[in-house]
Amino acid sequence: MHINSTERKWFIVSFAMAFAMMGILAAYAVNKNIHPPSNVETIDSTTLHLSEEFNEDNLGIKQMEDGSMRVTMVAARYGFFPHDLKVPVDTPITFRIASADVLHGVHTANANMTTMVVPGYISEVNTTFPKTGTFPMFCNEYCGLGHDYMWSRLNVVSKEEFAAHAATLATEGEE
Ligand code: CUA
Repeated sequence: MHINSTERKWFIVSFAMAFAMMGILAAYAVNKNIHPPSNVETIDSTTLHLSEEFNEDNLGIKQMEDGSMRVTMVAARYGFFPHDLKVPVDTPITFRIASADVLHGVHTANANMTTMVVPGYISEVNTTFPKTGTFPMFCNEYCGLGHDYMWSRLNVVSKEEFAAHAATLATEGEE
């Protein structure tokens, strides 16, 4: 097979670029100790509503004994539940998210929480939000016709505001 010399030159250039990029990614990952989330914990996505952790009444935020928070969420076509989430700033938060149907992803714009949500698995992410504000959470894996409309609101509030909010929830629960 004859390969034209210009063609050969571009083969070399394009392969060199691909390998250089792979090299940069690998060096960056090793340097910064970045690795994919690897919480291999399975769940039956078709019966989430019957599971203890992911049934409708259990979704949302809970305070753990050590002062950290746990957020339980379900991703389903086409939304994240709860749809509007209030969390405290500067507090360790563990997100546990399960999909009720297909592959979704959570991307929290301008804040540090992003993960894929693979059906059959529980995605777990530990994070702390360093600044207050309202951040949109978008689905970043194409999941169907409503993908563009799949989002939630994350409100990161001061610890005082969160405590007041938590107190209201507790009172509401007692009534
Ligand atoms: Cu869910 Cu895209």
